[in-house]
Amino acid sequence: MSKLQQFHGSDLEAVARYFHLPQEEIICFGANVNPLGLSSSVKNTLAEHLEIISSYPDRDYSSLKKQISHYCHVCPQNIVVGNGCTELISLFIQLLKPRRALLPIPSYSEYEREIALSGGTVEYFPLSQEENFSLNLSSLYKVLEKNIDLLILCNPNNPTSTATCVDDLTRILSFCKEKHIFVMIDETYVEFVEDMDKITAMPLTESFDNLIVLRGVSKFFAAPGLRFGYGVTGNNGLLSQLNSIKNPWSLNSIGAYAGELLLSDKNYIQKSRSLISSERKRICKRLRAFSFIQVYEPAANFILLKICKDNLTSYDVFVHAIQRGLMIRDCSSFVGLEGEFIRFCLMNPEDNDRLLDCLEEILA
Ligand SMILES: Cc1ncc(COP(=O)(O)O)c(C=O)c1O
Repeated sequence: MSKLQQFHGSDLEAVARYFHLPQEEIICFGANVNPLGLSSSVKNTLAEHLEIISSYPDRDYSSLKKQISHYCHVCPQNIVVGNGCTELISLFIQLLKPRRALLPIPSYSEYEREIALSGGTVEYFPLSQEENFSLNLSSLYKVLEKNIDLLILCNPNNPTSTATCVDDLTRILSFCKEKHIFVMIDETYVEFVEDMDKITAMPLTESFDNLIVLRGVSKFFAAPGLRFGYGVTGNNGLLSQLNSIKNPWSLNSIGAYAGELLLSDKNYIQKSRSLISSERKRICKRLRAFSFIQVYEPAANFILLKICKDNLTSYDVFVHAIQRGLMIRDCSSFVGLEGEFIRFCLMNPEDNDRLLDCLEEILA
């Protein structure tokens, strides 16, 4: 099979069409979404309150912001809500209009697209495979000196699943503050990490006004169709500008109500964290016995692997898996990944075993 077709992690329809597979039979290991699916208690409560569609959402989203404030331990006044993390990335970049943004790569592609749209350029900061894609602070500082006005961090990072600890984030923010560099941290995957308090930059929004932290519910709460995201910053000027350019009701009333329910569902949060934590340990242990891969220690709910077998490409592995109804991410479209890499997220234990058995056939 030739390496013609590129698919993204959530391109389920396109993959089903291309490989002539019934879509409902494909298990999606590419979208990084919590395998527990939408919380059943949230689903039931929502079903009982569908009439909220008949009202406009509260313009200030006060009740939702109160819930976010409680969930993230931040002031409600420092919160902006939007239509997924994607809208907030876009709004923030449109406002800041960075001339030269620094992006550690490989990373999520949306940042670069937004910066190009706003007329800026992206400077890459390649993460080294030898350093397991961790952020090397002394090298980072040297590049930050070169006229950079925005640093973008995805923490934990997609696709490497590596995370930068809060102590290092504090150091980076102090350095950037001195150099008048703004820092945007995308924490889309932070709830999946083992000890979230050691990674999240939320508390730092109180002490650094050159910081915005963005999150959403698409991945951890398995709600990508809801389009609910939120940002937190201690920079009042930025907050009021964000609120003034934003469409007044970009998050619909169902999204706002469901968002509140999701963030308060302690049982679901605990169950998800425990499932991902035990599967991450179990799957990594199994993978370490494979001969033809390198496994990078994952912090999030997905794992990046390097294929180290002659004449076997990431696309070959993708095809091998999809023929068995298992859709993983061929990482060849990520800028900054030199070699053959695949990424897959943790699903339910039986599905994870199916994927591991399938990978074992060609990589063990
Ligand atoms: C790092 C990262 N940020 C943001 C998003 C998009 O988030 P949302 O659905 O909240 O717009 C994704 C989706 O894949 C992602 O991987």
